Amino acid sequence: MKQGYFITGTDTNAGKTCATIALMRYFKQQGKTIVGMKPVASGGIVEKGGLKNEDALLIQKNASLPLEYPLINPYLYELPVSPHIAGENNPVKLSEIIIHYDILKKLSDIILVEGAGGWLSPLNASQDNSDLAKALALPVILIVGVRLGCINHAKLTYQSIRHSGLTCAGWIAVCLDPTMLKVDDNINTLKEALSIPLLGVLPYLEHLDFDLLAEHICI
Ligand SMILES: Nc1ncnc2c1ncn2[C@@H]1O[C@H](COP(=O)(O)OP(=O)(O)O)[C@@H](O)[C@H]1O
Ligand SMILES: [Mg+2]
Repeated sequence: MKQGYFITGTDTNAGKTCATIALMRYFKQQGKTIVGMKPVASGGIVEKGGLKNEDALLIQKNASLPLEYPLINPYLYELPVSPHIAGENNPVKLSEIIIHYDILKKLSDIILVEGAGGWLSPLNASQDNSDLAKALALPVILIVGVRLGCINHAKLTYQSIRHSGLTCAGWIAVCLDPTMLKVDDNINTLKEALSIPLLGVLPYLEHLDFDLLAEHICI
């Protein structure tokens, strides 16, 4: 691995997965090999007889090489509820995630790790996504789901990432709401509030096209 990033967001449903897949396509277009990981997920679909999570499946499908599903997603809880509640009987162990991560990171130029929920969303009784990012010692990319209220969420998350001591490599705006007014003004406000590079503004697309979204990324 030459580079890895931890992908966090202003919230659940902020556009983390869409941005992660767009980033995977972007790095591939740059001639790099890429793998990804969704270490903790809640909620799944039954596919080929087993429970799978849709984010992890997308990451698996977009990797540069075939990867075993459990390597990408070691913790999958059936119920779509917070992992610290869903995982009472099989709690997340960061040490286990690190074992998977250490195998995956050797396989490609770039590795992306998508968090679960937001930056301080709990993973088990005592640890959250920020603890996982610290354990992996990865720079963070902040995905801002652009909708009403996102400035507050973005500033709080950014402050907390800085407080963790990790590098915030940049942020990506994901336009989620086609009815939102003054999107450009909001993005300009965010640019001033977040003193890190804006790596892309992903437009709202009625039909998702990750290659098209990748064209809006510049790292
Ligand atoms: N650029 C986009 N255009 C339209 N819809 C989007 C876009 N990015 C994300 N979405 C939609 O927003 C929702 C949340 O996105 P997702 O990437 O799954 O968020 P997260 O991974 O943070 O939970 C999904 O329904 C997704 O299809
Ligand atoms: Mg996701």
